[in-house]
Amino acid sequence: MSTVVETDVLIVGSGPAGASAALALSTYGVPNIVVTRYASLADTPRAHITNQRTMEVLRDLGVEQEVVAQATPQHLMGNTTFCTSLAGEELGRVRSWGNDPLAQAEHELASPTRMCDMPQHLMEPVLVNAAVARGTRLRFETEYLSHAQDADGVTATVRDRLRGDTYEIRAKYLIGADGGRSRVATDAGLPMGGQMGVAGSINIVFEADLAKYTAHRPATLYWVLAPGATVGGIGAGLVRCVRPWTEWLIVWGYDVTAGAPDLTTAYAESVVRGLVGDDDIPVTIKSSSAWTVNEMYAESYANGRVFCAGDAVHRHPPSNGLGSNTSIQDAYNLAWKLGLVLDGTAHPRLLDSYTAERAPIGRQVVTRANRSIRETAPVFEALDGLSPQTPEQLWANIAARKDTTEAAGKQRAELREAIAFKAYEFNAHGVDLNQRYTSGAIVPDGTPDPGFTRDPELHHQPSSRPGARLPHAWITSGSRTLSTLDTVGRGRFTLLTGIGGEAWVRAAEAQEVEIATVVIGPGQEYEDPYGDWARLSEISDAGALLVRPDGFVAFRHASAAPDAGERLADALRTILGHA
Ligand code: FDA
Repeated sequence: MSTVVETDVLIVGSGPAGASAALALSTYGVPNIVVTRYASLADTPRAHITNQRTMEVLRDLGVEQEVVAQATPQHLMGNTTFCTSLAGEELGRVRSWGNDPLAQAEHELASPTRMCDMPQHLMEPVLVNAAVARGTRLRFETEYLSHAQDADGVTATVRDRLRGDTYEIRAKYLIGADGGRSRVATDAGLPMGGQMGVAGSINIVFEADLAKYTAHRPATLYWVLAPGATVGGIGAGLVRCVRPWTEWLIVWGYDVTAGAPDLTTAYAESVVRGLVGDDDIPVTIKSSSAWTVNEMYAESYANGRVFCAGDAVHRHPPSNGLGSNTSIQDAYNLAWKLGLVLDGTAHPRLLDSYTAERAPIGRQVVTRANRSIRETAPVFEALDGLSPQTPEQLWANIAARKDTTEAAGKQRAELREAIAFKAYEFNAHGVDLNQRYTSGAIVPDGTPDPGFTRDPELHHQPSSRPGARLPHAWITSGSRTLSTLDTVGRGRFTLLTGIGGEAWVRAAEAQEVEIATVVIGPGQEYEDPYGDWARLSEISDAGALLVRPDGFVAFRHASAAPDAGERLADALRTILGHA
């Protein structure tokens, strides 16, 4: 071991968490190195649902349009279908992912972005290419082995898998974004709750032109109740669209106590045939892999100078499509904090807010995703489809719902209700957007928690209370229409005020830390022609919101303040950990 490479931040892993950490850090001008074990980025589709909050993050990081150009658009995602096979009987549908007309309006009101379906093997190159173009140094086939930290930094030992030798990388901070079997999290001793290997599952990626069974009911997910579909896995057989309507990924369960089946091409083909239900369609198997459903989350995301993000600290099934989203949002939360600590603007205490803010989200996501699996069972219970039986019995049970009897009517009603209840998996807009932080990097304004007037998992409720994400409203600047969210971000704080808020603007300009100022009102740089901002801001024109680089409100004052300078300086001292 002769060489020691130096950097500010070493990132282990190039998945959604590591790649977006690198992208954000490089965007903020923080030197960073990514090491990743394999010779390429993800070679299978994996995570795909990309929610509005993630799209907002990508918008701020300048890659939103690239993702939109490659992703399957929202309007092709929405007819989640329950069926006996793609060619078989349809049991019902859920208008999903913001495609229900009412949900669509809520999505439009909530964010300037749209949800989309961006498979991980397409997402990772977008993130990594942009990160490298902005300065990230990336090393493929480089495996993290261990680390040791001291008062000034972290020394990681890595192995060059091509040459076989090891070397050291000295960094001021280490980010473990090394996935569900994170060695960094283990080495850092992060306490984990929950359980790995709750159920067994197989992913089969294949090509087949299935347009005749899907184009008339476009969806990202087709759920199949076939014999064996409720064994292990994620609650049913799943045919997931990777590229409409020719590339697919099947998720099929196995009994985890019996171990994964032998993943031969013949086995994969037999599963595909069973779920597609049409033997005449040519099928090309591209890959098969086994994985397990996990229900684990870390209580702490950091130990000293080591921080973990993504699956390293929250491991859960793909239900609700939260894996990659949560990973990207972890990284976005952490990156600006590291940037400000590294350039001396903030005290390292600011970094404590990472666990305080993200660990509760990780726990919520793990719990929700696993609960969604269990909530699929009532769909099949309504069809007597869960008890052990022959295929013939299953088909007879399913056919029974067409009878004219009272029992059949009851069965139809139960089925409709159970399918509609799956909105908690396929339309959980609140889970996507209602994140509220409590930490040292948020200054309470003394107002009581407003709670939620509707189901907080299903519905987004905007708030400008410190700890909430800045509400989105369309405003204008000259001939340009933009979101309030477009005025914040880019690695710096932003102060929003209105007519009468001059003292806040002067106070912001007087601070040592860079604060962009946004004045919204008639005759100002930004105007509020629809009155949306006045309705959503929850402050008077002369009040102020201080928004963090990640778009979360850190400080709020409802009205003008003669001592604006002092108040803002106090707030910043707290937020930046100097208090
Ligand atoms: P991720 O696992 O993506 O990345 C970890 C990175 O760390 C990789 O680049 C890896 O090479 C690297 N690494 C690991 N150990 C290392 C070491 N010692 N040294 C250097 N590098 C190291 N989700 C979903 O919503 N729908 C789905 O269908 C699927 N399917 C799926 C299939 C398979 C096979 C996997 C592995 C995962 C899924 N997921 C999924 C989960 C989803 O992919 C996951 O939530 C996100 O990728 C998490 O992103 P991370 O960046 O945290 O980890």
